[in-house]
Amino acid sequence: MARYIGKEMSRVEGIAKVTGRAKYAAEFRVPNLAYGFIVSSSIAKGTIKSIDTREAERAPGVIRVFTHLNAPKFRNDPQDRSFRALQSDRIYFNMQPVALVVAETYEQARYASRLVKVDYNAEKHQTDTEALLASARDPSHGRGTRVRGNPEVALREAPVKVEAEYRIPIEHHNPMEPHAAIAFWEGDRLTIFDKTQGVYEVRRHLASSFGIPEEDVTVISPFVGGAFGSALRPNYYPTLTAMAARELKRPVKIVYTRTQMFAGHGYRPYTIQRVALGADRSGKLTAIIHEAVHNTSSFEEFDDNTTGFARQVYACPNLRASLKIVSTDLHTPTWMRAPGAVSGMFALESAMDELAYALKIDPLQLRLINYAETDPESGKPWSSKALRECYLLGAKKFGWEKRKFEPRSMRDGEWLIGWGMATGVWGAFQAPAAARITLRADGTAHVVSATSDIGPGTYTAMTIIAAEFLGLKPEQIKFELGDTRFPRAPLEGGSMTTASVGSAVHGAAMAIVARLLDLANRNEDSPLKGAAASDVELLDGRLQLKSDPSRYVDAFDLMKRHNLNEITETFEARPSREREDYAMLAHGAQFVEVKVHSELGIVRVTRIVEVTACGRIVNPKTAHSQEIGGVVWGIGMALQEATEVDHRYGRIVNPNLQHYHVPVNADVLEVETIFVEEDDKIVNPLGVKGMGELGMVGIPAAIANAVFHATGKRIRELPITPDKLL
Ligand code: MOS
Repeated sequence: MARYIGKEMSRVEGIAKVTGRAKYAAEFRVPNLAYGFIVSSSIAKGTIKSIDTREAERAPGVIRVFTHLNAPKFRNDPQDRSFRALQSDRIYFNMQPVALVVAETYEQARYASRLVKVDYNAEKHQTDTEALLASARDPSHGRGTRVRGNPEVALREAPVKVEAEYRIPIEHHNPMEPHAAIAFWEGDRLTIFDKTQGVYEVRRHLASSFGIPEEDVTVISPFVGGAFGSALRPNYYPTLTAMAARELKRPVKIVYTRTQMFAGHGYRPYTIQRVALGADRSGKLTAIIHEAVHNTSSFEEFDDNTTGFARQVYACPNLRASLKIVSTDLHTPTWMRAPGAVSGMFALESAMDELAYALKIDPLQLRLINYAETDPESGKPWSSKALRECYLLGAKKFGWEKRKFEPRSMRDGEWLIGWGMATGVWGAFQAPAAARITLRADGTAHVVSATSDIGPGTYTAMTIIAAEFLGLKPEQIKFELGDTRFPRAPLEGGSMTTASVGSAVHGAAMAIVARLLDLANRNEDSPLKGAAASDVELLDGRLQLKSDPSRYVDAFDLMKRHNLNEITETFEARPSREREDYAMLAHGAQFVEVKVHSELGIVRVTRIVEVTACGRIVNPKTAHSQEIGGVVWGIGMALQEATEVDHRYGRIVNPNLQHYHVPVNADVLEVETIFVEEDDKIVNPLGVKGMGELGMVGIPAAIANAVFHATGKRIRELPITPDKLL
């Protein structure tokens, strides 16, 4: 029986965070620090004709103004096409950096940044994806088009069909903590405090940019104030910060303003989808056609895998799923919370609701009729799949059976009531990851891995896993992350950290157990003679036989007898070979109640029940917090979020939290999140699947479906703002 896994635990770093002891990238104290401020372009495309920095250079406190004319060139890396600033006179997107002012204080740098005068040769730009559809192309390294069966014929012959287009605007991650870095050099060795989801990725990027060995770069990132994908790729400020520090031979700090957050990293791309569904009269799907087009930049390809997950949701023999991209004069998009899945499922799950109405079948019933018992894409069995249980439990909790089928059939005075539902899906990813454990004879353990904790509770989950398998109390464990001096871990993204790094911590604990057993059995009278490592466990300092705990050795005495103050083991966990024989996904079912004001078109999401099946839950407290966060973001995506580009200027007009709307507490009413645990022996030794991103997948569709049920209006273009309902 697990002592800690599956039990609620508060965040181990919670007190450090709320008391300000937790240090974020911009907060490290470094002596002799200089401050950089980025000057941004005011055109979307063209070249810099001239740039006058003289007045800025004369301003108080200014140390240097870097432009493409005096900034050193970074090494060209064909493997890494990400944007690097100040490399030429070319402008690829509006708000692209054109200068970096470095001064003694932040205020001096920011003031002087306004004195830099730039003249441009503007060229004709295009930032509107809608205007570029004729140029849509397959991504060169992308997933392109997937076909199974004969979808066109099946659709033509289907007695019941629906077909529609769906649109998602550009959306921006808006974590509370802006991107920031502090860099300093000691000779040719670089140290950087950075906000990142992957210290090793930043290290590789910087080493390649400066043409120095990776070992000469140290990246430190112990705390991240939210990221959601915005810190997955190395953005352009770490190279700028390190460049300035190297040139000026003193530490430099750069922090983005909130406005710069809108051009300083990627965004969810502008996405247009067409879904066509064919079914027989009983509701069985016979054809799914799902096509997506989204934008990328002019200098780099990004592929959001928009139609990837949707292929595996329903049992349907005929399917075509495709993704195309168009080049726009905007910065490159990137992964943003539940990338691809939330976009693709908004379209597919809206279309499923449309099909339910075309068939006059209850929307939940339609999902159950088309339930995929095995993976429709590969034919493989699921490693585990409790989606049916999620549907049934969610429906029961929500009271779905009381729903009247007809739109506009439920009312509360001036408010039209709508009930909608949708399916959520995400992966059960695992990537190679390593962890190191040092067990000390005083009964404490130090556990490290170069992963990140962008908020999901990685510190706490790893502490729980280490405590569980070392048989110690959580307060005896110290877990550290976010440092390239620790063993390598993948990016914290794709909801794969607990599966990847957790497996490494588990493996390192098992290696400690094996080491102790070996030590114990050097003694002829060991009560554990003949036992294999898998026969024993550590519990409260005893190395004991699982089948007979009265046969044990005191682990810490044992270490002392061998003059060992500590023992250290490093373990790299890799996805098992067995995984290849199975299809692995995490699933969820969402049930939503909305009230839509009949005169004003205001949508209130009054109730959400979300049921999730994602393997075993390590820490229910942070796990529920993840799912609630996903639900809240789903509300934002459905009703509020949109980055508005004025295509005449190719410029974002709402780069701030006043005009870029996200839900506030008053927008979030009743939210219930429930887990249906799955006992999955395949995915990884811990049986955990991705869950963070899953929380929002399905929510925008469920809300749109509820709005249709309330009003009879099908809104296929997010966000669902009141004007669209009047
Ligand atoms: Mo994940 S796209 O890093 O939230």
